[in-house]
Amino acid sequence: MPPLVIAIDGPAASGKSTVGEAVARELNYLYFDTGAMYRAVTQAALARGIPIDDEAAVTALAEQTHIDVIPPTVDDGRQYTVLVDDEDVTWQLRSPEVDAHVSRVSAYPGVRTALTQQQRRVAQSGRGVVMVGRDIGTVVFPEARLKIYLDASPEERARRRYEELRQRGRSADYEQILAAVRERDAVDRSRATAPLRAAPDAIVIDTDGKRVDEVVAEVINLARERLA
Ligand code: DC
Repeated sequence: MPPLVIAIDGPAASGKSTVGEAVARELNYLYFDTGAMYRAVTQAALARGIPIDDEAAVTALAEQTHIDVIPPTVDDGRQYTVLVDDEDVTWQLRSPEVDAHVSRVSAYPGVRTALTQQQRRVAQSGRGVVMVGRDIGTVVFPEARLKIYLDASPEERARRRYEELRQRGRSADYEQILAAVRERDAVDRSRATAPLRAAPDAIVIDTDGKRVDEVVAEVINLARERLA
């Protein structure tokens, strides 16, 4: 029996995590954000002083580091808790430093192999899982029951990030955020291994001008059709 997976891929800030979590809650599936794993390896490399350009050392770190993504252990607005070798690094993963280096780390083929293996194991539990990332429908679970590709214009995604930061009381510069969004898109789309793209059989949803609850309802309807 193939694992029951709903794959949600798309560029940064396209709404994958908000939509993925809501869909998982509605269907009583596990919600799993694979971006957190790439961020965890990046954060671990920065914390240990491993140069991000040292592909062999970063790859070895990805192979040796034990990453757990578990239900929230603290009620502080987090979607999940991330443990790296048992240390809670959940909020460190959102730092601008990790943002700036994670695309480079996630372009290393050896890092991707190590994390892809761990992601496939998550779906072996028998419970349905909504897995969110860049390559879930194309590489990690090409046999996923339903594949969604969430898209939005760079301007709309930058605006969402900007609002998010402002709501958390952080200062934010829209133009800078927009430039960072474009930069990350370019790296994620052009890398040789598992580049960001929609699987041929993915359903593409353009979220520009749509409310989150509309997108969530659309995905849940598709899931109910496919799983019936
Ligand atoms: O979704 P996010 O912003 O947390 O992802 C962080 C980075 O990890 C992003 O630059 C692309 C990369 N990533 C990836 O290459 N493959 C995935 N399945 C998930 C994330």
